Amino acid sequence: MINIAIFASGAGSNAKVLLQKAQELKNIKIKLIVTDQKNAGVISIGKDYKVPTFIIPRGKRTLIEHENEILAVLRIYQIEWIFLAGYMKILSQNFLKHFQKSDYYKIINIHPSLLPNYKGLNAFERAFDDQVSESGITVHLVNEKIDDGQIIIQKKFKRNSSDSLADFIAKGKKIEHEIYPCALEFLNNNQLFSMRHICE
Ligand code: GRF
Repeated sequence: MINIAIFASGAGSNAKVLLQKAQELKNIKIKLIVTDQKNAGVISIGKDYKVPTFIIPRGKRTLIEHENEILAVLRIYQIEWIFLAGYMKILSQNFLKHFQKSDYYKIINIHPSLLPNYKGLNAFERAFDDQVSESGITVHLVNEKIDDGQIIIQKKFKRNSSDSLADFIAKGKKIEHEIYPCALEFLNNNQLFSMRHICE
């Protein structure tokens, strides 16, 4: 069994589709959710799916103190992989080390752009403002840099000239909700690193 933690700071729509998908996967167990925001939407999603949700704000503590509290929880639940789903804190090198497996870390992120384009915050908005003709969503391994690790899945969508920002984001969110569960399934099937990734 692969024990997984989801980290989220916001609404948690990606957390929700992961929890949903995990119900049909034999080798995956989503053991807990971690959020740093006490009003995050993801808290009620955790309740719906009866998954313990740990609300761990950073407060006035240092990043290391904050992460140490999170690491203590992850240790108790024997977490092996982390799925970041809109977690708005950058993980320190010290934290990453705890999830190191040979040359990568067992931490996955989803980012709302065709990486390496539009790394960082407000990726949907910046791509839209640039009037890109297509954009996309990327699921990737986490490394020391922001939105940078090995790409696991990438899927594009077209922007029509009549699309509003809301339309553009809705297209992207739809793809997020397809491909993040798909990545979970690859992990379940021990295919995360296979060369050919098709998520239809
Ligand atoms: C998503 O757009 C994801 O790509 C980004 O953070 C957002 C989280 O959305 N990393 P939600 O809370 O899962 O709805």
